[in-house]
Amino acid sequence: MEGIKFNQIGVSFKGSGSCVPEQILTNQKISQKVDTSDEWIKSRTGISERRISSSEDNVTEMGYKAAKTAIEMANWDLKTIDLIVLATSTPHDLFGSAPSIQSKLGANNAVAFDLTAACSGFLFALITASQFLRGGSYKRAIVIGADQLSSFVDWNDRRSCILFGDGAGALAIEATSEYDNLIGFNMRTDGGRGSFLNLPSKNDQNSIIDNIDFLMGGFSSIQMNGQEVYKFAVREVPIILEKLFKETNYSSDKVDWLVLHQANQRILDSVGDRLKIPREKILSNLEKYGNTSAATIPLMMDEAIKNNRIKQNDIIATSGFGAGLSWGAALIKWG
Ligand code: ACO
Repeated sequence: MEGIKFNQIGVSFKGSGSCVPEQILTNQKISQKVDTSDEWIKSRTGISERRISSSEDNVTEMGYKAAKTAIEMANWDLKTIDLIVLATSTPHDLFGSAPSIQSKLGANNAVAFDLTAACSGFLFALITASQFLRGGSYKRAIVIGADQLSSFVDWNDRRSCILFGDGAGALAIEATSEYDNLIGFNMRTDGGRGSFLNLPSKNDQNSIIDNIDFLMGGFSSIQMNGQEVYKFAVREVPIILEKLFKETNYSSDKVDWLVLHQANQRILDSVGDRLKIPREKILSNLEKYGNTSAATIPLMMDEAIKNNRIKQNDIIATSGFGAGLSWGAALIKWG
């Protein structure tokens, strides 16, 4: 507020970056694999094509490239980065991919770790990293959302394989004592509804020696009840955003951009309608990329920043939602 000195540590947004694989899988090509059509997919989801990783663009590679671009935009010396948080459900290394990204970047003074919360992952990682800045422990952080769900999709299941694609996005955030551009946030989970969307482990029983068995590590493919996930999203996302507006003394008419997790165009439109946010303020790029899980929000933001839609001081309402079930919202001022 004007006239009142801000005497805490807040968060400012300094840079963005993204990376998607080169391989393009169109709806038309998917229809050569399963019984579907471009018309069905487009009308039910808004998706036309998605990107599919090859061995050269796994989560570590894509996350590295997205982070590098965000750091260049922020114009930071790599040695000044304190923290790297990678939101992913599909790490290249199950022990953690963030340290590999740190090493590739040469951000030798940063601590780097992974965080898993499916499609809410980027939002949860952004909020987590922000707490380190607000608490005064760290000054500069890179938050990455990167996923390669194509490796875990059942490509014979037409109800789910049409939705997902691969990609990465990143934001560079910095502590400041002058203002707080993370205006507010909320996070929720409900494990009781987790079976609507999951990627469960698949453990074949094996023997080490007589009478001592072990479970071989591995995962099955994405299991999804599409209708239940749809109902969950169109109900919970408006509720959590309305709660956030109330807590921060904002209202939907003060929002310049609504940046939702890019799951389905019908979900985006429905949430926008409930909040009375006009279509031209709802950012969407899922037509080109589908649902890239933890990557969708920073991928969308980076695109809108680079093509001059999101500008300095714009107010962005954002919400991630998905497996867990998990969901969250944040109100951001860009800059
Ligand atoms: N092509 C053609 N027909 C299809 C396809 C397809 N790809 N998929 C399903 N159908 C058929 C079904 O078999 C069914 O036919 P039937 O009536 O003869 O049985 C009919 O279409 C309707 O199926 P529904 O499942 O009711 O289709 P719906 O309109 O719900 O659309 C969809 C399905 C697009 C998956 C929708 O439910 C949705 O988007 N849900 C949200 C899913 C989501 O966003 N998941 C990710 C969350 S984020 C995360 O954490 C990863």
